[in-house]
Amino acid sequence: MCGIVGYIGDRQATPFLLDGLTKLEYRGYDSAGIAVFDGKDIRIEKTVGRLSTLKEKIKNDLPPGSLGIGHTRWATHGRPSDRNAHPHSDCSGNFIVVHNGIIENYLPLKEKLIERGHEFKSETDTEVVAHLLEEIHGKLERSKSDSPDLFLAAVREVLKTIEGSYSLVFMSKLFPHEIICAKQDNPLVIGLGEGENFIASDIPAIVSETRKTFILKDGEIAIVQKNSVEIQDRNGDRIDKKIFYVNWNSAAAEKGGYEHFMLKEINEQPKAIKDTMRGFIKQIRPARGTPAPERIAQDDSAIIFPELKWNPEFLDNIDKIYIIACGTAYHAGLVGKFYIERLARVLVEVDLASEFRYRDPIVDEKTLTIFISQSGETSDTLAAMKESKRLGAKTLAITNVIGSSLAREADQVLYTMAGPEIAVASTKAYTTQLILMFMLALYMSQLRQTLSADRTRELISLLRKLPAQISETLSDVEPIKTFAEKYGFNEDVFYLGRSLDYDVALEGALKLKEISYIHAEAYAAGELKHGTLALIVEGIPVIALATQKSVYEKTISNIKEVKARDAVVIGIASDGDEELEKYVDHVIHVPETDELLSPLLAVVPLQLLAYYAAITRGCDVDKPRNLAKSVTVE
Ligand code: AGP
Repeated sequence: MCGIVGYIGDRQATPFLLDGLTKLEYRGYDSAGIAVFDGKDIRIEKTVGRLSTLKEKIKNDLPPGSLGIGHTRWATHGRPSDRNAHPHSDCSGNFIVVHNGIIENYLPLKEKLIERGHEFKSETDTEVVAHLLEEIHGKLERSKSDSPDLFLAAVREVLKTIEGSYSLVFMSKLFPHEIICAKQDNPLVIGLGEGENFIASDIPAIVSETRKTFILKDGEIAIVQKNSVEIQDRNGDRIDKKIFYVNWNSAAAEKGGYEHFMLKEINEQPKAIKDTMRGFIKQIRPARGTPAPERIAQDDSAIIFPELKWNPEFLDNIDKIYIIACGTAYHAGLVGKFYIERLARVLVEVDLASEFRYRDPIVDEKTLTIFISQSGETSDTLAAMKESKRLGAKTLAITNVIGSSLAREADQVLYTMAGPEIAVASTKAYTTQLILMFMLALYMSQLRQTLSADRTRELISLLRKLPAQISETLSDVEPIKTFAEKYGFNEDVFYLGRSLDYDVALEGALKLKEISYIHAEAYAAGELKHGTLALIVEGIPVIALATQKSVYEKTISNIKEVKARDAVVIGIASDGDEELEKYVDHVIHVPETDELLSPLLAVVPLQLLAYYAAITRGCDVDKPRNLAKSVTVE
């Protein structure tokens, strides 16, 4: 995935482009570039490496001009290099393009363009788009086309020729009064200003400039001029687009005094889960006096999802649920399975999105498929949703990004209210996903009458305590920092747990791997002796979770097994557990709650451990190597 920005107005474009790209760097950071029209010519500046390298390169000579586009890249076609960095241009340098996505038929198109004399400067799929545009524009010009806007007409023809997924943004020195944007399967937002307009892949890049936006849908084309934005469909018919008002401010997308976005986002979890329980972000209530919905009944007797428009009978009659997601969201799905099966007594299978559609899943009209995705743009998750719809299942999206592709594609949506998550490593998205899965399970249990009123009330009151309990866990990070410093240079770490502790162990291990590059494996503690125990040697760190009371004794037995092989064990225990310290080297306590809710507390020290281990090793916490925030390629 990549980040795209654009500006047209009276101000200098470059400062906005660089600032916008900074906010989008989470989307890709192996190279960056901008193209700015100075009134006569277009100057392209691009370079391999982080955006800071580009900024350094041009700091004493910013490209002047009030029309420009920019890009931060995560390489798919062609390794990260100066020449593969975007923007790309045609042979004449008249047409410039930036792209997020993949042009699937670029190879045959490129071969034909080369036969017709086009010379390519990069190995990217994107460059074919610029050459095609040049060629098609030339043809239209020669045929004396009566189109009032040749640039737009040529872009429309290009879109008919290419296949794949994209958001594309075009500028041309022949048409310096406009920028043209097209969207298919990759996000693109237009920010509406006064006498100026903005383009970006994601809202954080423009929210400091305007809260008024158009969120483009697949198949839409935007003609962005200084004083107007027109949205058309592929046939050129005008679309009467509704303005989407962004309901969070720029501070939410800034680091706010924290050294890294990840640490900020870990610390935002109490608020994020409170907002998710409520169903809206506090401080920024829905516009124009509409009463904000509440997802929990005031007397704690029930969960209410005012936004779910399903006939309750459908949810009551479901006989199977699939939860489908990738990465951390998949781990949230594993916990979600436990919740729904335990509380609502429906069979749930959890699938990796990249596997689901290739395994011929058994789906019918009594099947519900739930898709979890922070970004709502993950390509595999989207493709799995399309497949599930094709097979006739009902779909529910659980996502954090309002208006994302997943949200638009799904029959129903429940939004987590985590606010923008910028760090590549997902933290508050995970805990808010757990909250929503728990609430969904309770909601279904109400419809299916599988839980007593007293138990429902008890669980809801414990749910309400979680924000304060997470704050408590966050208030004492020193021991975790010390462990990270002490063990951060080990090359292997094991995570163990049973039941829900195992699901949390998986997430803890992923966090450590992705940001500190330490090899980390999570095992269901009972599985150890079936092979993995052979890897346990003297001094190897083992993080053992023991918050699940129902399997506590069994977990202790497994801990003894690794201790007997001289592993160094850090235990995660609930407050009041004085037993665990007898068997481990160190204990981190988390507040006491029902064992169903303990994943929300137990994961916090694991997030912090990963964070401080990455710091100890000098890693780039927010932008780990080879990764990007949302994966929009298969
Ligand atoms: C988590 O830390 C990861 N960066 C990654 O596993 C992520 O959860 C996954 O790519 C899914 O993303 P999504 O939630 O935006 O669909």
